[in-house]
Amino acid sequence: MITKNNKHIAIRKVTEGDYSDISTYLYHLSELSQKRFGPHGYDLESVQEIHSNSNIIGYLAEHENEIIGYTIIQNGYLLHDADRLNSYGLNLEHQTDTTFAPSVADEWHGLGVGQLLFREIRKDILESGRSRIILWGGVQASNDGAIQYYERIGFRKLGMFNYHGENYDMIWENRQTTHH
Ligand SMILES: CC(C)(COP(=O)(O)OP(=O)(O)OC[C@H]1O[C@@H](n2cnc3c(N)ncnc32)[C@H](O)[C@@H]1OP(=O)(O)O)[C@@H](O)C(=O)NCCC(=O)NCCS
Repeated sequence: MITKNNKHIAIRKVTEGDYSDISTYLYHLSELSQKRFGPHGYDLESVQEIHSNSNIIGYLAEHENEIIGYTIIQNGYLLHDADRLNSYGLNLEHQTDTTFAPSVADEWHGLGVGQLLFREIRKDILESGRSRIILWGGVQASNDGAIQYYERIGFRKLGMFNYHGENYDMIWENRQTTHH
């Protein structure tokens, strides 16, 4: 795969041998990016713990064997977000819903890595028979770049909620299945 600055990158699923490198990658994110990527702690134990959950699938984007992007998805929806998400009339379903949390290394922002990661992940999600992708804990309303990214890859806003400031819930739906 080729980024906008003509670099070759590879995208693959996380395996056990990656946990320590993922922790290092997360600690190297800028303070701002760290505030925005929060599905789990950054220490090795937290990385191991989240990936011990069989509903979690991690993805890495790598350039010359170095991690430049890390994204996790969870099969199903997050229980602690369920009431809020149902309030938009979603009718949540563990069988068809997926939850999505992306991150890209700061030096690589805006070069298409997030878009390439999403393309791979969406392919796997659709192949597994799932049809909706929900943001993990929403997106901070102040995070313009991420909101533009989500809209560019086909997400739409569901509504706003307050948690340490304003946030949007957003969703991607497979149009082919929503019409049936
Ligand atoms: C949000 C994030 C994952 C996007 O990944 P990325 O690799 O930078 O995004 P891409 O380069 O693939 O951009 C795809 C589209 O998003 C938009 N976009 C991305 N970053 C943007 C920015 N800072 N400002 C404006 N638009 C932006 C562009 O419209 C772009 O579309 P285009 O190529 O047609 O112009 C990444 O910036 C990131 O990790 N940010 C910090 C952590 C974070 O905020 N995570 C999300 C928490 S909810």
